[in-house]
Amino acid sequence: EIKGFAFDLDGVITDTAKFHAQAWQQVADKVGTNWTEDLADGLKGISRMDSLEMILKAGGHENDYSQAEKEKLAAEKNDNYVQLIKTLTPDDILPGMLDFIKSLQASGYKMSLASVSLNAPVILKSLGLTDAFEGIVNPASLKKGKPDPEIYVRAAEVMKLDPKQVIGVEDAAAGVTAINGANETSLGIGNSDVLHEADLIFPDTAAVTIEAIKEKMG
Ligand code: G6P
Ligand code: MG
Repeated sequence: EIKGFAFDLDGVITDTAKFHAQAWQQVADKVGTNWTEDLADGLKGISRMDSLEMILKAGGHENDYSQAEKEKLAAEKNDNYVQLIKTLTPDDILPGMLDFIKSLQASGYKMSLASVSLNAPVILKSLGLTDAFEGIVNPASLKKGKPDPEIYVRAAEVMKLDPKQVIGVEDAAAGVTAINGANETSLGIGNSDVLHEADLIFPDTAAVTIEAIKEKMG
């Protein structure tokens, strides 16, 4: 029986994916990696340093930068990103998500946050959602990022639930892989080609309701 939900943040609760993409594209231009939609999709859910490595690799630049230079590029990206997310308000919660979160609360489900973003606490605060969650997995404490299951295993622990009692909610293929690896039920929001490994697929956030989930789970 499902008793809790573990939420990804970027692209699920709010559309920071567009800000991440905007900030990473500047880095890609700088290092000479061609920016494509596939690259942007592949970066979703991937930690900051892993994202940088993917961008460098996509252009064949993985051996061109020292560790210090990489850290500088990642810091520049984050500075730009932090500027972009300063504009976030509760109006930036994706369609239907506030109602969904409220309905979960009203029905007694537990909720935790499973975002690898070090900026997640600030974003939740800007959206007015800090109190909705039982707990946030601290991404700084993770050994591995998504697609490794660790973050979703921890998200179940935060709620004191067995993974079998948890639905993980994601917009990224790497996140769906992580949920499945943690033996939770995966709910993917977005393109079904990208999210084909998900147990339940919804085209957009507005379609996600408790009723629709129950119907799909049979
Ligand atoms: C989320 C996003 C990724 C981002 C990662 C780290 O998973 O989907 O695009 O790279 O968080 O975010 P941060 O804010 O720590 O750079
Ligand atoms: Mg995401």
